[in-house]
Amino acid sequence: MSVYVTTPIFYPNAVPHLGTTYPAIAADIFARWSRSFGEETRFLTGTDEHGRKIEKAAQAEGLAPKPFVDLVSAKFHHLFSLVDIEPSRFIRTTDTDHLEMVAEALRAMRAKGDIYEGTYAGLYCVECETYYKEEELSSGRCPVHQIKAEFLEEACYYFTLSAYRDWLLDLYHQNPEFVRPRARMNEVVEFVKSGLEDLCISRSSVSWGIPLPFARSHVTYVWFDALLNYLTGIGYLGSSDMFARFWPNVVHIIGKDILKFHAVIWPAMLKSLGVAPPKSILAHGFWTADGRKFSKHSGGLLDVAALIDAYGQDPLRYFLFRETPFGLDGNFDEGRLVERNNVELAQGLGNLFQRTVSMLVRYRNGCIPVLPVEREEREALVAQAANRTVESANAHMQEFRFREALESIWEFIAVVNRYTNLLSPWSLADRGADSQLDFCLGTLSEALRYLAALVTPFMPRSGAKIAQRLGLPDAPKLGTIRWGRSPTGRVAELSDHLFPLLEERRPTVDPNLGSSVERDL
Ligand code: MSP
Repeated sequence: MSVYVTTPIFYPNAVPHLGTTYPAIAADIFARWSRSFGEETRFLTGTDEHGRKIEKAAQAEGLAPKPFVDLVSAKFHHLFSLVDIEPSRFIRTTDTDHLEMVAEALRAMRAKGDIYEGTYAGLYCVECETYYKEEELSSGRCPVHQIKAEFLEEACYYFTLSAYRDWLLDLYHQNPEFVRPRARMNEVVEFVKSGLEDLCISRSSVSWGIPLPFARSHVTYVWFDALLNYLTGIGYLGSSDMFARFWPNVVHIIGKDILKFHAVIWPAMLKSLGVAPPKSILAHGFWTADGRKFSKHSGGLLDVAALIDAYGQDPLRYFLFRETPFGLDGNFDEGRLVERNNVELAQGLGNLFQRTVSMLVRYRNGCIPVLPVEREEREALVAQAANRTVESANAHMQEFRFREALESIWEFIAVVNRYTNLLSPWSLADRGADSQLDFCLGTLSEALRYLAALVTPFMPRSGAKIAQRLGLPDAPKLGTIRWGRSPTGRVAELSDHLFPLLEERRPTVDPNLGSSVERDL
């Protein structure tokens, strides 16, 4: 089956930080995992480039909006590739096909009678790009950014969101897994039950946006424009073949702060277009540093490039998904990252790899012994554990339990370490027990081949390195891996350590960063 996974598209009003990189790494891991099982997978991420917030940020930098977003979007693109995030497409809402997509969707909704003209007056938070009711603010301040909401009054066009209330409630009722985790589904149901108002979907006070095709002095509300990227990204307008293959088997990975846009407005927009709702919306928690929320608004940036310099891509990717369950908030503590690197990566997986390869080189000139078809009991137990791990890790991944998937992989590492200690290959070598030693080294090599396949989606560099040092061109695929069926005649090679031991470094929250985008570009 085809799998489609998306991230929110990011506002390029400032450079990315760890919080905005997190959902993109999650989607990358999931996409790599699906591909490893042979699923045709499309992974979409990108930048959300219109609206008042971007217009203001560009002004502050003394640039026109388009050159400004070109600059910052490129920064996102670059940073993502630095963390080995490999989307099928990096979409920008200024891309021509997206401009056409939005115009086409607006025309269709208007023709259906779902868009009408009116005026709007209310309190607007420019950071959220949304209007608030007075009672939703505290002392006139936005609940998310704690900044004063501005009073805006303008002519606008409305989308008949309120007409979709009952349909939405029915959708939630029929699909209790529509929003995950479950607690977040309940939040959405309560919100919709309490009543929905029609949504103002155009701005006449903003000029940086996609003009309404039927009223060109208005630009499309940035959220209405942004959500449609999920259709642009699979060729809704052009190639109906790609669209038919990937929709609606889509998972939208998003932060908990933007749940209503995705779980309420988006399915209603799709319904209006006659398109099925997405299969699932997965809301993750927020990362904080030293208990403080970090973002471009809280006075600091968690500098991802500096984190990579200090720790490397794989330890960072591993830590983010091992430390905190995906739906919950997490505290980014560098001491914990160092500890997990040193204990779980360096001493756990790294040592197992290093000592196996050293023994292969030392006792067998690097030649990996071929396992006989007949299995000995202890070796059979390792083989069973390997296959069970693929199954259990996959069961967790299908539910986006990244942490539990990693835990089951590390349980397998513990099994292999116990097996090594029990057989003690070094004493088999001392005693000259050649066939037993072959059996043991062959078993360990197979276990590592499985581990290369299992860790690759999380840590692509380490997975590839394990495979290559075991004489394989790439890490094997999880969907087709079979115990004892590896190519024969392979030669293992020693290498440097997979995960060097780390020391804790300076704190990453630098309050002086974040004021200028230019400086970081
Ligand atoms: N442009 C909108 C999304 C439109 S999707 C059709 C947007 N952009 S954003 O750049 O402000 O945020 C993108 C994502 O980053 C959101 O899902 C948000 O939850 C996430 N994060 C921002 N800071 C975060 C943390 N500190 N921790 C985890 N995720 C956080 O919203």
